[in-house]
Amino acid sequence: MTVVEIPMPDDWHVHLRDDEMLAAVVDYSARWFRQALVMPNLVPPVTTLEQARSYRDRILSSVSIEAPWFDPRMTLYLRPDLVADDLRHGWVERVIGGAKFYPAGATTNSDLGGTSLADFMPVLEVMAELGMPLLVHAESTDPDIDIFDREAVFLEREVAPLLARMPELSVTVEHISTSAGIDLVRAYPQAFGSITPHHLSCDRSDILANGMRPELYCKPVINSAEHRRALVEAATSGDDKFFLGTDSAPHPLSAKEARVAKAGIFNAPFALEVTAEVFFQNGSLDQLAAFTSTNGAARYGHPVSERRLVLTRHGDANPPRDDLLTTATGDQVRLFGVNEAALWAIDQVA
Ligand code: NCD
Ligand code: ZN
Repeated sequence: MTVVEIPMPDDWHVHLRDDEMLAAVVDYSARWFRQALVMPNLVPPVTTLEQARSYRDRILSSVSIEAPWFDPRMTLYLRPDLVADDLRHGWVERVIGGAKFYPAGATTNSDLGGTSLADFMPVLEVMAELGMPLLVHAESTDPDIDIFDREAVFLEREVAPLLARMPELSVTVEHISTSAGIDLVRAYPQAFGSITPHHLSCDRSDILANGMRPELYCKPVINSAEHRRALVEAATSGDDKFFLGTDSAPHPLSAKEARVAKAGIFNAPFALEVTAEVFFQNGSLDQLAAFTSTNGAARYGHPVSERRLVLTRHGDANPPRDDLLTTATGDQVRLFGVNEAALWAIDQVA
């Protein structure tokens, strides 16, 4: 039996959706996570402080478990016309934790994003002045670029020039999927990186080698085993530039297993178990707390939680769990990480 204790973690990148889907999924995030940085790609997207406040209220009123620690921060969808006062007041009131750039067309509800970061300079200048983080979905939408190279190309063409041009703007490269992301974050003092449980635990053979598994399809697409190793090295190294952002992104089975399948993996329920298993397999459980609980808190200016969780690995003592969740409207959602969940138990330290 292996036991590891960590301060209560934060999820620095999560999609909680709205309405019945929000109600069905939010408790899984509230259960073990203190802060959550909530992505704005609703329809329509969250682009004003008023929408952000109202979304935060809907999130909190959808939580049905006792979770007084849960403190979600909203993000605004980066648009050239974001109102500077919304950014200012939202930042000071701690409702808004950052603004998120979506490459138009790259992923779910990204159509109102942009193609080049250079098109957002006035807004980025306001953010830099406030100290508000820019969160970047780094993926080229150039159709001539191979899907597995799109992160590296976007970083080279867009993110590196921005980092060089605006050293005062702090940037999180979200859901890093390749060594190019790790290298870029290490090269610039004001760059940070979130890494997901699925990019740490899977490679592209898992998606395609034994039948095609739509539940592993997400953006950026899970890449090669070599890239996965680079992500595991960075996450387990203790390097304070890297932290957990689950990118938990629930979609109904009808959308995931459709002829054209939606991108997104619903991993909030067992994100900690999957992450702990990666660290366990790598012999790095002593670095788990840095990745899940302290590096991200430092990056986003929060004290580390005083609450603590204890994670216990008891082999395969737990029976396999059901991997489907049903929403109030009858939609089913597939849960990622049931195998790891069978190996680990989590409790809050009293
Ligand atoms: C996300 C979603 O479904 O909202 N999907 C995904 O594959 N990660 C959007 C995103 O973060 O790209
Ligand atoms: Zn996301």
